[in-house]
Amino acid sequence: MSSPPRIVVLPGDGIGPEIVAAAVQLLESLGEFEFEELLIGGCSIDAHGIALTDEVLEACKAADAVLLGAVGGPKWDTTDPKAPRPEQGLLGLRKGMGLYANLRPVRPSPALVGASPLREERIAGTDLLVVRELTGGIYFGDSGREGDKAHDTCEYTAGEIERIARTAFEAARRRAESSGRRPKVTSVDKANVMETSRLWREVVTRVALEYDDVALDHLLVDNAAMQLVSRPADFDVVVAENLFGDILSDEAAMLTGSLGMLPSASLGAEGAPGLFEPVHGSAPDIAGKGLANPLATFLSVAMMLRHGLDRPDDAARIEAAVDVVLESGMRTPDLAAGTVAQPPMPDLPAEVEVGTAEMTSAVLDALAA
Ligand code: IPM
Ligand code: MG
Repeated sequence: MSSPPRIVVLPGDGIGPEIVAAAVQLLESLGEFEFEELLIGGCSIDAHGIALTDEVLEACKAADAVLLGAVGGPKWDTTDPKAPRPEQGLLGLRKGMGLYANLRPVRPSPALVGASPLREERIAGTDLLVVRELTGGIYFGDSGREGDKAHDTCEYTAGEIERIARTAFEAARRRAESSGRRPKVTSVDKANVMETSRLWREVVTRVALEYDDVALDHLLVDNAAMQLVSRPADFDVVVAENLFGDILSDEAAMLTGSLGMLPSASLGAEGAPGLFEPVHGSAPDIAGKGLANPLATFLSVAMMLRHGLDRPDDAARIEAAVDVVLESGMRTPDLAAGTVAQPPMPDLPAEVEVGTAEMTSAVLDALAA
C-alpha cells in the first residue's frame, strides 16, 4: 500500500486555527493522511521574529500539499517598513513554492442566492473562475520608502504572462467539458495606461491563437469591476495580474453572499505541491468564539483533493455535502446576516444559525449519509 499523502497544515492567525482544525476533521473522515502542523504569519513572528522560517518553507516544498488557514491581525498591524508583517509569510510561501497560478472559483450555492447583496435574477447562472497571477507584478517588484516618498514597482516578463495565460485557457477548456458551454477567457488589464498591461494584452492575444476553440475578450480593469456585478453570469474564466486579481476576486466573492464561501488553490509547476486556502482573512473580531464559517476551507480541501492529490471523487463529495447542508437551512452568522431581510419562503426550510462545530458535524454527517 502506498503511504498516506503528507499534508503540511498552517493554521496561522485569528480564526485560522478553528477552521483548519475543522478541515483536518473533514480529511480524517475521508481516509488516511499524515499531517504536520507548522507556524506561519503572526504566530510565527511571535515565536521566531519572522512570518515564515526556512524550515517551514522547506517542509511545505517537501509535502504533497499545503493547507493554510489565514494570517494577520491587529496585533501585528504596523506601518513601520522595518517591522515584520504576517502577510510576508504568505507572500514568501507563494514565491518560495513557485505558486504562480491562483484559482478562485465563484459559484453561488443554490441555497445562498438570497444571501447575495445582488438581486437573484442578476446572479442566476453565475459560475466563474478567477485565475490570478500570483508571483509577479507590484507584489514582488522593487519597493521602498525614501523620507516622505514611497514607491512600488509593477514588472512582468512575457514568460510570466504566457504561463498564466495558458493556465486560464486550459482551465476554460476543462470547465467546458463538464458545463457544455463555449469556453471563454476574459483577460483583464489597464492597457490604456500601463506598459505592463500592454505587454499582458499582447502576450495573452498571442497565446490565444493556440486555443481557437476558446473565445477571448479583453476588459480594462475598471470596466471589469463594473461588469462583474452587472452581468456576472456572462463570465467564464477571468485572468488577471496579481493586484487586479486580488481586488476582483474579493468583488466576485460577494456574488456568493459571503467571502466566507470562497476557496482557492495556488499551483506551481506540474507535480509540485500546491497551497490551498480560503480567500477570506483571519477575521480577528470573531476569532476564538466558535462562529467562523468553515465552508470556504472545506471547499479548499476539495480543491486540494482535486488539483493536488488526484482524488476528484472525494472533492465532488465534499462540494455536494456543503450544498446539502446549506439547503437544510444551516447558516453561520456571516451567511445568516445577508438573509435577515429575506421574506420567509414557504418552500425553503427555516434558517438556523449555527457555529463552526455544528456546521462541521453537519457536513461530516452529510458526507457519511
Ligand atoms: C489574498 C489576500 C493576500 C493578498 C494578503 C493577505 C497578502 O488578500 O490572498 O487575496 O493580497 O494576496
Ligand atoms: Mg485578497
